[in-house]
Amino acid sequence: MANICVVGVGYVGLVTGTCFADLGNKVVALDIVEKRVENLKKGILPIYEPGLKEVVERNVRAERLSFTSSYKEALKDVEFVFICVGTPEGVDGEADLQYVRMAAEAIAENMDHEMIVINKSTVPVGTGDWVASIIREKQAQDIPFAVVSCPEFLREGSALRDFFNPDRTVLGSTDKTAANKVAQLHLALRAPIVVTDLRTAEMIKYASNAFLATRISFINEIANICEALGADVKEVAQGMGYDKRIGHHFLESGVGYGGSCFPKDVKALAYMAQIHGTEPQLLQSVMEINLTQRRQIVLKLEDMLGTLKDKVIGMVGLAFKENTDDIRESPALDIAKMLHDRGAVVRGYDPVAMENVQRTTKYINLSEDPYELAQGSDALVIATPWNEFKSLDFDKIRSLMKQPIIVDGRNLYEPTRLTSLGFKYRGVGRGFKGAMLESNGK
Ligand code: UDX
Repeated sequence: MANICVVGVGYVGLVTGTCFADLGNKVVALDIVEKRVENLKKGILPIYEPGLKEVVERNVRAERLSFTSSYKEALKDVEFVFICVGTPEGVDGEADLQYVRMAAEAIAENMDHEMIVINKSTVPVGTGDWVASIIREKQAQDIPFAVVSCPEFLREGSALRDFFNPDRTVLGSTDKTAANKVAQLHLALRAPIVVTDLRTAEMIKYASNAFLATRISFINEIANICEALGADVKEVAQGMGYDKRIGHHFLESGVGYGGSCFPKDVKALAYMAQIHGTEPQLLQSVMEINLTQRRQIVLKLEDMLGTLKDKVIGMVGLAFKENTDDIRESPALDIAKMLHDRGAVVRGYDPVAMENVQRTTKYINLSEDPYELAQGSDALVIATPWNEFKSLDFDKIRSLMKQPIIVDGRNLYEPTRLTSLGFKYRGVGRGFKGAMLESNGK
């Protein structure tokens, strides 16, 4: 059993702290936003993550997990302090490290005994050394400490599963004793533990996310070529994936990637390359293709509707992916904005992200369910692949819509099924199937 402090109770910190508590450790989770801490003490979570609320409640009841906004209280008796604060995109794509700096300074000013500081947030290569220099400079007294990089590999919507079933734990530090102590914390997860230096660990995180984003832009480029040549990209991905060197994961084409990680991490890696004199050609293409995918949805709608002005278009799904309320860099919202700017009336529905959309977005009229969304719509765009969209009552949908047009930005449906139900259907890279049936006037 270890004494752990987690700084930052967002998507990464709350999951990390709760899960370490669930492994039997004693965890104090700190956030400087006092309202967030008060809510957590009342059992109100700042994020939607399937299954998390119950694990938080269980560990609070067992007194393994507590919340505070006081660093003095949070750091008392801890051996490990995880920095899990946000590193949002800054100017030119450079990661904004102001919150990491604030955390490092507060830890330095409040530490009164030896501890290991662990960077869990995704941080540019070299940040570990920078955090160590801040702590050395700001320490109220000269206390030994070590900095270890331990990047997170949690996907929103499956974060608990990813924490307890990691493909690997990556640790980076110049202090091997500290790295081994952090490795001990992770033994219960029974996954391979890669121990390397700080910069290499930080690079493993960026390279992993950039590779996953590259796979997505790759299959989206293949989708665009399939569309021109009449092949079905879903079946292409299926055929590719049996090759063990390729695999079936992360080959789903559609509106492209969004979220708080891929967009900013690819940009940050490209930025790091450029300021160090290396041209990130592939990463630039990955980003360009990703933006193209969103624009393509708009072009498909214009092609099918003639004009977008005054047309009513329903966005089916608003979060950047299924099983989350997170709308950061959501392709759905980007597409909605482009439609709005072209004079369309945009409506939207999402199973859990509506509150976030209502608070931040003025150009989307929210509907209570997909059927209210369909009422009087000229077209529907499938933008987030929630399970509840997979078996919609399409007869009802068609009867409610002004025009039976569906642009399936997630390739959720089979073109032939939708066109046989009387819809004008466009997927992403689905070959001529939809178009051919359309031209036959079905
Ligand atoms: C990602 C990484 O997967 C995770 O390891 C890292 O720690 C954080 O960033 P996350 O952004 O939460 O996780 O979700 P993920 O499931 O990776 O999806 C990212 C985006 O790619 C979403 O917009 C998703 O819809 C999209 N995506 C994913 C595709 O378009 N096609 C795919 O095949 C997979």
